[in-house]
Amino acid sequence: MGLDIVSTNGQTPLDEDEKEGLLIKSITTQSELNEFEQQNIEKAMLWLRSKKFNTEEILSEKFVKDLHRRMYAGVWKWAGDFRRTDKNVGISKHHILTALKQLLDDCLYWIQHNSFPDEEIAIRCKHRIVQIHCFANGNGRHSRLMADVMMEKIFHLSPFTWGAANLVKQGDPRAAYIKALKKADAGNYAKLLAFAKS
Ligand SMILES: Nc1ncnc2c1ncn2[C@@H]1O[C@H](COP(=O)(O)OP(=O)(O)OP(=O)(O)O)[C@@H](O)[C@H]1O
Ligand SMILES: [Mg+2]
Repeated sequence: MGLDIVSTNGQTPLDEDEKEGLLIKSITTQSELNEFEQQNIEKAMLWLRSKKFNTEEILSEKFVKDLHRRMYAGVWKWAGDFRRTDKNVGISKHHILTALKQLLDDCLYWIQHNSFPDEEIAIRCKHRIVQIHCFANGNGRHSRLMADVMMEKIFHLSPFTWGAANLVKQGDPRAAYIKALKKADAGNYAKLLAFAKS
């Protein structure tokens, strides 16, 4: 039996080709997959800690891809590559690059013009990047880490706490997180910001 990835609350199901990109053939369950991904993400966090990045470097297509690659490179062959299929979340695969560039430009503008409080800029950016859904999977964790990188390396603030819970697992914190994302879809960022700080 191959990997049985169940589409759970707000998680993107994988296509057959994407399942084929799994580099660790011994993984057979979602929880084993989560575990391997988490170990790989910790390596990406060490990489982040060991380097200095300026605002322009962080708000670049290269950084967005590099971060995803660093988070998942040992697990998925397509880590750091834009998705090649359409998903139930996210825009058409053809518009990913343009939408990402627009977002990164907007984000730089908000920072330069103090358009919103710093933490709200990080949350708006997190929400839009996950809406674009650049990658086949791992977009939620990547978007949360992008927000934390912005908080620490651009704004010199503490990273978010994201409900102080493991959001990859089903449960009340994930339900609250998805609910807050839906409010943000409607242009109301207060709930997502409050959640991120809780
Ligand atoms: N209605 C929505 N509006 C905006 N974003 C959404 C919505 N539903 C789901 N998402 C986002 O999509 C993410 C799931 O995408 P994906 O499976 O690629 O990421 P993931 O890192 O594997 O997920 P996660 O770590 O959140 O479990 C969720 O974390 C959430 O951030
Ligand atoms: Mg997922």
